[in-house]
Amino acid sequence: QGDRTPLIAGNWKMHLDHLQAIAFVQKLSWGLKDVRHDFGEVEVAVFPPFTDLRSVQTLLAADKLSLTLGAQDVSPHESGAFTGDVSAAMLGKLDVRYVLVGHSERRQGHQEGDDTVAAKTLAAHTAGMVPVICVGETAEDLETHGAAAIPLAQLAAAIAPLPADAEFVVAYEPVWAIGSGQAATPEQAEDVARALRESLRDLRGDDVATATRILYGGSVASQNVAGFLRQPNVDGALVGGASLKVDEFTRIVQFKK
Ligand code: G3P
Repeated sequence: QGDRTPLIAGNWKMHLDHLQAIAFVQKLSWGLKDVRHDFGEVEVAVFPPFTDLRSVQTLLAADKLSLTLGAQDVSPHESGAFTGDVSAAMLGKLDVRYVLVGHSERRQGHQEGDDTVAAKTLAAHTAGMVPVICVGETAEDLETHGAAAIPLAQLAAAIAPLPADAEFVVAYEPVWAIGSGQAATPEQAEDVARALRESLRDLRGDDVATATRILYGGSVASQNVAGFLRQPNVDGALVGGASLKVDEFTRIVQFKK
């Protein structure tokens, strides 16, 4: 895995109001304070709903907690008459470091196509944050095109507007594995992650391909996380349901290779 620091990210989706978020982050930080890995550092990030960001930011700053803050979405627009949107600059002011873009729940539930995802990716980058670009095939895509074709096309489209030196994270989340309890096997995840890295090599060159972290997401739990993290091209996990239980998420972060 070279120098890529593993990233374990919890996508809370539309769960935990800001009071619950404060209690959750306090417990989580307490649980994580003694976690050590013999292979080095692991970065842990939480992606709360927008309404929690300010509370969590304040807590992290006041207690000098080592969690990183992420947002679940961003407007593709800089500012203006976009009712309901939240701009990248606004997120940046809250010490948000990562922004999810292209999650399948946005692609499917909000009809976000590759152009919108690319615009959001660029907006996050331009405001100084790191886009976490979610890609993944549906069960139908898998049958028709195999596992890698759709994720590769989605990644190429999302990074197209980014400058050559832009940092981003890729999250491979097969849609059929999300919230289904049917995680991909570590080998399936590795195959697509390897294909994504190869394609980054073609599109962006060796340095970017080697430095970019590729996460797996989809029914990750404490029992299966190590299998994914042992794969040479899988550099972390994007966790949904299991990130909402402090003990389970702590066990996930504690994975042993
Ligand atoms: O973004 C994380 C995600 O969609 C996976 O959700 O609940 O299958 O871990 P879950």
